[in-house]
Parts: sequence; structure tokens; C-alpha cells
Amino acid sequence: MQFLKNKLSNILSSSIKEQFAVEMAAAELSDMLEYPPDEDKGDLALPCFKLSRTLRKSPVQIADILASSIEDADFSSVEAVNGYLNFRVNAGQFVKRIVGDIRRKGEKYGSPENGNGKTVVLDYSSPNVAKPFHIGHLGTTVIGHSLKLLFSFAGYNCVGINYLGDWGTQFGKVITAYRLWGSREEVEAGGVDELVALYVRFHQEAENDPSLNDTARAEFAKLEAHDEENIALWKWFIEVSLREYKKTYKLLGIEFDSYNGESFYTDKMPEQIQVLRDKNLLEIDDGASIVNLEKYNMPPCLILKRDGSTLYPTRDIAAAVYRKRTYDFDKAIYVTSAGQSLHFAQWFKVVEMMGYDWSDKLVHVPYGTVSINGAKLATRSGNVILLRDLFEQAIEKVTSIMEEKNPEMKGRTDVAEAVGVGAIVFYYLSNNRIRDINFMLEDALSFEGNTGPYAQYTYARTCSILEKAGERGEMGDAPLGSHELSLAKVLATFPEKVNQAIEQYEPSVITRFILDLCASFNRFYHDCKINNCEDGDLRRARIALTDATNTVLGTALGLICMKKPEKI
Ligand code: ARG
Repeated sequence: MQFLKNKLSNILSSSIKEQFAVEMAAAELSDMLEYPPDEDKGDLALPCFKLSRTLRKSPVQIADILASSIEDADFSSVEAVNGYLNFRVNAGQFVKRIVGDIRRKGEKYGSPENGNGKTVVLDYSSPNVAKPFHIGHLGTTVIGHSLKLLFSFAGYNCVGINYLGDWGTQFGKVITAYRLWGSREEVEAGGVDELVALYVRFHQEAENDPSLNDTARAEFAKLEAHDEENIALWKWFIEVSLREYKKTYKLLGIEFDSYNGESFYTDKMPEQIQVLRDKNLLEIDDGASIVNLEKYNMPPCLILKRDGSTLYPTRDIAAAVYRKRTYDFDKAIYVTSAGQSLHFAQWFKVVEMMGYDWSDKLVHVPYGTVSINGAKLATRSGNVILLRDLFEQAIEKVTSIMEEKNPEMKGRTDVAEAVGVGAIVFYYLSNNRIRDINFMLEDALSFEGNTGPYAQYTYARTCSILEKAGERGEMGDAPLGSHELSLAKVLATFPEKVNQAIEQYEPSVITRFILDLCASFNRFYHDCKINNCEDGDLRRARIALTDATNTVLGTALGLICMKKPEKI
């Protein structure tokens, strides 16, 4: 609808100048335009109370004066009602224009095309090696990847980085546990689960035998000193873990451009620590080196522990500098749980204090917590729901639903996988990211209601209508009514939704758009004959509208990492 808003705001701007001799910018007027919640009132509305102060007249007078001064072929009526100026678009012309636009731009329809090859670096998913990849990571993984898809769609050059937690004292613990109770065969066979089991066992045994903690510390120190054996174990643990993570990424269609994890930045920290020293930003506090952030109402940012070892913020600072030098990003996005908001606010501030003029290009995108069927997660005890298990459970359930409904279908495993995984992703991305969510698996998997399966099913419906039609249709001059108009209006909002999703780092804007589009299409499908329409011109126009819906729904599903089977 943006083009209509643009057009209308230009018309309004010149009308206001003519009638009131007041200059108002079209952009300002465009922001005032609203979509009436009730379609009977019109398709666009200008609440004139927003103008009364500037134009020094009552809203009712303003609406009356403007209503009689505006005439344009794109609008079939302009009405003044109680201080509102209501515009109705010319249905035939409008639908034709939108469908034409979608056909011309194809999969590019909706792209703001403002990336111009600028680079966005996205740091997401980033699980900690030898620790479980659990549903707490669902948010960073799917929000992060959707953002990557959205920015790529807008023409940005995107770099997806999996900042693996591949360094830290946990390796001392796992190495210790492996030497005491593990075996190569078991780790090869059991993968991450086996490493996690060793990690959990370490904690249990250390309760009775605290000397294990000293052993673990010593093993980590050896690792830091590049002890050959420990380095080999460490590399192997990473490899085993990655193998596992990649299975989950594959289900989601995710590939990373870089797996440079925390360990990669070990040799890049000293330079930044020196910068901090040179700028007199480091203070010694109880033996540790910190940056005081009192002025900014934040607790100090820890740079070096008392024993001189580095910390999480130290590494993030070094990584940001490296990424700036390597990718010259226009934006660096970090997607993590809201629990890490302070960490990011702190080190972003430190980067600014260090004098890096790109510090304002760092963006933290936080999200809320996840529980499943009301149960909160417990990480330490090993009592967690793994992401992979969640997906597998979903795929299994979908498989049995499909076997019941459609036993003959070919390629069922692929479809069940797409629908099962899609259900989880869609359900998760239906909420504003910052809200805490409680996952109800049954609800997510339902084919009814506002779910992923419902959205994919609607997409498949458009495919089968088009297949039956054997053509993509043509708009022509068939007389179109309110059903077609309603659907075209939803299609017309897509470019605005994409913009909003990008500006707010909020994929749920797309999820909600998909639901609006599905509802509107299904109403159209229910109320209008498509392939069976007797009037040839009207039939072809409706097929063209279905084709446009198919294109846009396909693009939108793709943007939130959903696969789109043509048959379900
Ligand atoms: N590995 C961390 C975790 O699981 C997330 C890393 C986020 N990225 C970053 N640059 N700090 O909590």
C-alpha cells in the first residue's frame, strides 16, 4: 500500500497548499495515514484532528474541505465522516496494479532494495561446545537466521557467524571426565550427548571429591599452554559437537559463513588490552582489571581476572575489532537471550570509550525465555530439552498425522520434516521476540488455528490451484469485487512489513503478515470460484491473483526459514 500512501500524501500536500495556503511535506502526511480497522469505512483514512492545530480549523471542517477538493482515478470515493477523510480505492485498478507489480518483480517483490551491497555481520546460534544445544538456543538460531534472510533480501551482503563457545574452563572438566570415565568409542558413538554426560558426571562427582576441580583447572591450563594431547582432545570434542549441531542446522536450512569461535580470538586480545591501557581506561579492582562504567549507570566491565586471564567481554571486544577489519561491516548484529543485555551494553560502551568510531554500528537483539508445556529449563543438572529432540518429536507427530490422512503420498519424509520443523519455527516466531514464551507442542503442530502447518497448507493449496489451472492467469479488465480487493490489499502491505521487520529486527512481523495473508486468501478461496468460475476473464484474473499470492506467501515463508512443500 506504500505507493498509494505516497501518491495520496502528495495529493493531500498540494490540496492543503491550495485550500489552506499551508506547506506540509508529503512524508509527514504519509505518516498520518491509517488503515481503517473496519474495511467498510474505506481503505485508507486521514484522521483530520492531527491537522487542526496546523490548519487552524476543526477536524470536521478540514475533512469537508479536503473531501470536495480531491479527485483521482486511483480512488473510487473520498468521504468526510466525523473529522475523518476516508478513501476507497478503485478495486479493479488496484488489484491489477498489485498483481502486475508482483508478477514483474517476482521473488524480489517486497524487497526494500536498500542494502546496496553494504555488509551486515550476524552473530547467532553460537552454542557452547560440549554443552547441550537446547531449546534456549532456538531463539538465537531462528531469529538470527531470519534476520540474515531479511537483510539479504534487502540487498545487504550478509555474513553469518557462529561464534562457538569453544574455549573456557568447561574443557578442563570434560577432558578430566573423559580421561577418568570416557572412551573414544563411546564419544564417537554418542556424540555431544556423551560429552554432556561426561560434563554432568564431572559435576556430580566433584561434589564428593572437590580435588577434581583442581585437576580440571590443571587440564585447562595445559590446554592453554598448547599441550599436544589436550589440544587434540579439544579439537576432537569440537568436531564431534559440530557434527551434531550441523544436523540441526540442516533441518533448518542454515549454513554459516564462519565458525570462528571464541578460541579464534585468543591471540587478538592483547592488542585491545593494550589500547585499553594506552587510553587509561583500565582500573585495578581487587586485583582484576576493569573498565569503570559508573558514569553510564552500569557495573564495571571485567577485562582481566586477578590471575590475568581474559573474560567473555574481552573476547567480544577483540572479535568486534577483527570483524570490523575483516568485513568492514555497516552493522554487526548479536542475537542472544535478554539475559545477556547488560553484557552487550557494557562492552559496546567500552568499544565507544576506546575511540572506535563504529561503536554505534553494534546492535544487540535480545529475546525472551522459552519454557515447554509450562516447564522451565534446568541446564546444570543435564535436564534439558535438546533442540534436535524437539524437532524430531515434531517430525514424528506430523508423520503419524500424515500417515492417517494421506497414506499414499510420495516424498512423505521430506514433507513431514518440513512441516514438523516449520511448525516449531512458526510457533516460536509468532511472538514478539522479547516476550517470554511457553511452548505448547500440541498447539504448534495443529493444522488448525494460526500455525505453521496451516500456513504451509495454504501455500500448498495455492500450488494445487495453479497446477489445476495449468496457467498463471492474466488480470485483463474483469470486474473485480471486494474479495479480490481485500486479498490484494494484504499483498500490497508486504513491502511495508518487510521494512518494519528489518527496522525492528523482528521476524514476527513477517509471521503475522503470513497469517493475515492466509486468512485473506482462504476467505477469497471460500467465497469465490477460481478454476470453476464460468466467466473466462474473471477466472483468469482470479488465477493471476492466486499466482501472486503464491509468490508472496512463498517469499514470506522463506524469510522466516520455513520450507514450502507444494503438496502436503
Ligand atoms: N556462546 C554464548 C552462549 O551460549 C553466546 C554467544 C553470543 N555471542 C557473542 N558474541 N557473545 O551464551
